[in-house]
Amino acid sequence: MGHHFPGGHDLFSDLTLALVPKTVYALTGPSGSGKSTLLGIMAGWITPTAGAVVRDGIQQVGRVFQNPHGTPGRTAVDHVALPVLAAGHHRDEAHDEAMRLLGDFGLTSIADNPFRSLSGGEAQRLMLARAIAGSPDLLLVDEPTAQLDPHAAATITASLGALSREGMIVVVATHDHRAREACDVVIDLAPVP
Ligand SMILES: Nc1ncnc2c1ncn2[C@@H]1O[C@H](COP(=O)(O)OP(=O)(O)OP(=O)(O)O)[C@@H](O)[C@H]1O
Ligand SMILES: [Mg+2]
Repeated sequence: MGHHFPGGHDLFSDLTLALVPKTVYALTGPSGSGKSTLLGIMAGWITPTAGAVVRDGIQQVGRVFQNPHGTPGRTAVDHVALPVLAAGHHRDEAHDEAMRLLGDFGLTSIADNPFRSLSGGEAQRLMLARAIAGSPDLLLVDEPTAQLDPHAAATITASLGALSREGMIVVVATHDHRAREACDVVIDLAPVP
């Protein structure tokens, strides 16, 4: 599989990957090497210019973007409850599940605050909680620890490990060497020659 944007050079070529459940993959490489692009290809909304992606047993893809974006006036807990509601759960159940996930990410105290008032790191953790609330088989996360202090970053990394052990495929684009070391497999888009 390979990809280049119109007029651009090959971001990657001859890339062959088989992603398996219960594994956390770190996606590394310098800025501009194509990490976010590869996540977009894995998510299915960028078509690679060479080769193809085969999705087997993937019903739900969760995606956490590099820049968190939510609905400014909506509360944090509503952001997480929405995918649970969408999966067909009752409103009270969705709220309880959302509060449980917020707790996992240290966000209980800001549950009822509007998205616009959250810090960058809180917003990022909220987006992760929201992605997980949709029970994805494949979770794609772009730079989850970039805006976090070391303690919060370690919490996120540990959560991603726990999710993969439940059976998820987790792919994390990251520059953070501690996050990278906690992953099972490293996919490096720009190997040192
Ligand atoms: N839609 C697009 N059209 C044209 N070029 C694009 C498009 N999206 C990304 N690019 C270019 O492709 C290259 C790879 O971008 P990408 O966002 O995948 O890099 P990245 O590895 O995620 O970088 P960073 O670490 O800065 O997030 C960059 O040079 C970028 O400018
Ligand atoms: Mg990127």
